[in-house]
Amino acid sequence: MSAKELIAIGSDHGGFELKEEIKKHLEKRGLEYKDFGTDSTEATDYTIYGKKVAKAILSGECQKGILICGTGIGISITANRFPGIRAALCSDCFSAEATRLHNDANILAMGGRVVGPGLAVKIVDTFLDTPFSNEERHIRRVRLIDEDE
Ligand code: RB5
Repeated sequence: MSAKELIAIGSDHGGFELKEEIKKHLEKRGLEYKDFGTDSTEATDYTIYGKKVAKAILSGECQKGILICGTGIGISITANRFPGIRAALCSDCFSAEATRLHNDANILAMGGRVVGPGLAVKIVDTFLDTPFSNEERHIRRVRLIDEDE
């Protein structure tokens, strides 16, 4: 991830606290982000933030996204409804690395009630710092995701 790129970040109430931790970490790293909410632990719908972050990536405003809800499931399902979005729900660094290398995932999803902040920032770093492999078989498979064969 280069310093010029913009990260879209969003969460519902279940991911709010982890989102704030991750923002502090991105700031320490000198990485730019745009926060699409939510702004508190007041109950809200994960669909709002999943859609906002997906649209920010598809429009080109942001290059990568981070989405967090209680489990990471609802918000990743929402984002993945948008063709061109590849949101990967990760709770470990191995998956975060593999989904960049193999799937060219453009959104990292996590569960605020699943991973603690220490692990979460390592997952974020792995995701942001791992490039797509650019190997032919992975390029082909990523292309096939959005194709009706
Ligand atoms: C909210 O309670 C919770 O359902 C939400 O954060 C998420 O886990 C949904 O998948």
